[in-house]
Order: sequence, then C-alpha cells, then structure tokens
Amino acid sequence: MKNILVTGGAGYIGSHVVVKLHEHGYNPIIMDDFSNSRHSVLEGIKNITGKSFKVYEGDILDQKLLKEVFSSQKIDGVIHFAAKKAVGESVDKPLYYYKNNVSGLVSILEVVQEYKVKNLIFSSSCTVYGQPDSLPVTEETPKKPANSPYGNTKQIGEEILEDTINSGIDLKAIALRYFNPIGAHPSAEIGELPLGVPNNLVPFITQTAAGLRESLTVFGGDYNTQDGTCIRDYIHVMDLADAHVRSIEYLETEYDLNFDVINVGTGSGNTVLEVIKAFEETSKEKLNFKIGPRRPGDVEKIYAQVDKSKRLLKWQTQYSLEQAMSDSWKWQQKLANNSSTDSVS
Ligand code: NAD
Ligand code: WQD
Repeated sequence: MKNILVTGGAGYIGSHVVVKLHEHGYNPIIMDDFSNSRHSVLEGIKNITGKSFKVYEGDILDQKLLKEVFSSQKIDGVIHFAAKKAVGESVDKPLYYYKNNVSGLVSILEVVQEYKVKNLIFSSSCTVYGQPDSLPVTEETPKKPANSPYGNTKQIGEEILEDTINSGIDLKAIALRYFNPIGAHPSAEIGELPLGVPNNLVPFITQTAAGLRESLTVFGGDYNTQDGTCIRDYIHVMDLADAHVRSIEYLETEYDLNFDVINVGTGSGNTVLEVIKAFEETSKEKLNFKIGPRRPGDVEKIYAQVDKSKRLLKWQTQYSLEQAMSDSWKWQQKLANNSSTDSVS
C-alpha cells in the first residue's frame, strides 16, 4: 500500500483528503501541529474509516521531525496543505506567514529531495488571479500582483516549486488552484473548524443561523453582477478531496509531466445572495442578514474554467451548492452539540 504524507492532514481540506485517500487504497500519514485544528478531527476520521492513521504532531519547519517521518517509512507522495490561510491576519503578521508558508514549503522540499520522493501536490489558490480581466479564468490567465502577504505566499510557493523542479531533481508536482471550498463530509463527522470569528462566508452563515452570531453582513450590494453581490466558484470539499486523489493517481501514471498548475472549481459562479438562498432552502432556516459596505480588497467576480482538470485528471464535480449548504449546516449542528470540545469565540 502506498504511503502518502498529508501535511496539515488534521485541517479542513486535509482531513477530507485523508478519508478519500483511504477509500482509494492509499495509506495516509498525517503531519500537523494542530495550530488551526483540533485533535477531535482524528476521532471523526476514525468514525468514517474505521481506522486510526499514523499522526506526527509537529511543525513542518522542524527538520529533525521531518527526517524521522521520512526515514521511518517509505513516503511515496506528499500532499502539502500545512499553511496559515487568514488573509487579514497575514497583513498584520507578514513574517509569520512567509515563515510558515514559504519557509515551510522549502523545508518540505528539502526532505522530499533528500528522500527522493517522486510526487507532490501543493495547495495553491485562485487568489493568484486577483480580479481577472476576463472570465472564466483558465490556468493561462495572467496572475495579478498579490493583494496580501497570504496571496503572495501562494504565488511564491508556485514559483519555488517550479524552480526546484526545473533544477532537474526527480520530482513531479501539481499546484492545485482551489476556488472556494465549502461543505463538509456528509456524515458530519468532519468539517471546517473556524477557530474564532470566521472570515469565510459559509461558516459565518451557519454560525449566524445557529445563533452564535447576531447577523451576517453581506459585503457590498452594488457590484456589477446580477444582484449586486460578489460572485465566487464554491466547490464542495468532498469534490475537492477527490481531485487530490485523482492528482496523485495522475502523477503516478503520467511520465512526461514535471510541473503543472490546475484549477479546481465547479466552472460556475454564484452570488452571495444565491448562497444565502441555497442555505435557507436546504436548512429551512431564515437567515438574519443585511447588506453592508464592500470589504476592502474583495474581488468582484471569479470562477474557473475547468477543462484542464476534466482532461488531465478525468475529474469533475459531483456535488451541488445545495448539497454543500446542507452538509455545512449538518456539520454546524453537530459542532453545536459538541460545544464542550470544539468551541467558538
Ligand atoms: P486549515 O487551517 O483547516 O488546515 C491547515 C492545517 O495545517 C491545520 O490543521 C494546521 O494546524 C496545520 N498547520 C499550519 N501550519 C503548520 C505547520 N507549520 N506545521 C504543521 N502543521 C501546520 O486550512 P484548509 O482550509 O484546510 O487549507 C489547506 C490548504 O489549502 C492551505 O495551504 C490553504 O492555504 C489552502 N487553501 C485553502 C482555501 C480555503 O478557502 N480553505 C482556498 C485555497 C487554498
Ligand atoms: C466569499 C464571498 C465576500 C463573509 C478567501 C481568500 C482566498 C481563498 C478563498 C485561500 C465574498 C462575501 C464573506 C461575510 C460576505 N482562500 N462575504 N460576508 O473572499 O473569495 O476568498 O477564501 O486561498 O484567498 O481571500 O472568500 O469566504 O471570505 O468570501 O458577504 O461575512 O462572501 O465578500 O464575496 P473569498 P470568503
């Protein structure tokens, strides 16, 4: 059985990928410092899979620990999620973000090179496109200068990977550019665990409906879109997880590839008001929300062109926006019931 190291495997996307890897016959090995996750996620993974996977608790900057991981077993591939992801926080603490996300990637690549690992997936983001000049965005759409240190760490990350691979080492890598991941495992055993006040739309919606927040502010109602609110390409985390397994399978069988970038989205966009409507319809809850001012730095509209993922990965999304909202709501209700262990502030 092939061993895949999942850095950040206790996190939101990583935990779903761990489950999917197991379903596809891989042995996932988790490395996480639990700086943005809880140990209870391991229980959720076990409840779904019936298995307890090996977990290394620690920082990806810790080379001693990394060498222990890579020398204790053969690592056949790495999926590298471990990173900080809060855009606003990155503006306040740029060095913390560059150290964690950029030096963290360098640290992983050093051991990957030393232990001759052949395949790697890197978590990139649609943030690299900024506000694109035309839609949908293809992988050839020019990148825009990053508007936050977080966004910059993804751009730099892609460049570090490409330069490393171009130096001739025996490594193949794909940078997956995620659009907006939402939803949770349909069992509600794992999902997104926003610690503190959520930055993202969907956790804010579900926490408001659950009574943890008073009301949702829709950031701007005067954009040039059908209802005046921003457009994003919201992808169910189960679909996103599936794309990672397909990418690993693709790397294992595709010999011409060195480095590539692939959009991972649904191919269509929804406004904030459409997301709220999908939530209200599936949950039968009335959401308390108001239209407020624009959020500085927000992109007006973005959604992916998904031809490349279809063609190369033989992958496309299966879940609807409604299913994602329903799974997010189910997860929120489960969290509320477990509030003694997983609290919000
Ligand atoms: P997350 O915070 O839920 O998961 C990241 C995990 O990495 C956490 O469990 C955290 O404890 C761990 N981690 C962070 N720094 C670490 C370190 N130095 N050493 C070891 N573990 C560390 O985030 P997520 O939403 O699952 O995102 C995963 C990846 O996908 C990140 O790289 C993120 O930038 C990227 N991404 C996320 C989104 C999104 O909207 N969620 C969109 C695009 C890209
Ligand atoms: C979605 C929409 C908001 C909260 C962020 C990162 C990006 C990438 C994906 C990692 C926007 C609106 C939100 C609220 C609102 N992450 N909104 N009220 O902005 O697309 O991107 O996550 O790489 O880098 O910046 O996601 O969930 O914050 O916002 O109206 O309380 O919801 O204006 O239109 P975003 P988001």
